Amino acid sequence: MKKESKNKKDIIVAPSILAADFSRLSQDIKRAEIAGADWIHIDVMDGHFVANLTIGAPVVKAIRKHTKLLIDSHLMIESPESYIEDFVKSGSDLITVHSEAVTDLKGLIAKIRSYGIKAGVSIKPKTPASAVSGVLDIVDMVLVMTVEPGFGGQSFMPEMMPKIKSIRSKFNGYIQVDGGINADTAKQAKEAGADVLVAGTYIFGAKNMKKAIKSLRG
Ligand code: DX5
Ligand code: ZN
Repeated sequence: MKKESKNKKDIIVAPSILAADFSRLSQDIKRAEIAGADWIHIDVMDGHFVANLTIGAPVVKAIRKHTKLLIDSHLMIESPESYIEDFVKSGSDLITVHSEAVTDLKGLIAKIRSYGIKAGVSIKPKTPASAVSGVLDIVDMVLVMTVEPGFGGQSFMPEMMPKIKSIRSKFNGYIQVDGGINADTAKQAKEAGADVLVAGTYIFGAKNMKKAIKSLRG
């Protein structure tokens, strides 16, 4: 799938609100927006697919009222097919599902796109690139996890870079990296072919958010 009017070299920075202050979410999102964020990345976890519980569609809906940026919902949940409509109605512009959680990946990607929004597919560190090869012609984005999904603040796994290179050799859409992204690791990911950088701790933990976002673009 081709990117719409996006220059290949454009880097997209998507702050992960998992590292924001949940009691002041709209203010933190506004801060990220002013600091130059392109998308807002929302980590949805169900306590089954990953060992952590975060937020659901009602919170995404509340966030929608406070930002015009693209809302990127990363579903780390079992049976995501049962919740797609909820996340579409909540105002997500892009929904990413994990290949490991889905039996009919092609059907689910088609379903997401049938609502007129973007669809992404994600792979955990132990999942090979081949898990997404059958959907590369229908997805807008592949998310290559650079940590085990579930928690923010973990260390980047450089051994995921060959996986990104291999996907990039066959895919012209967005390749997103998520987990342990900072200025150094962003550089490695971009060199491998990633163009959408998710960062939680590095952005929301920064003294100067604008500088942090700029350093990711490099
Ligand atoms: C992890 C989540 C990430 C997480 C990244 O499962 O998908 O989006 O928030 O956090 P950092 O940037 O702190 O590694
Ligand atoms: Zn995420």
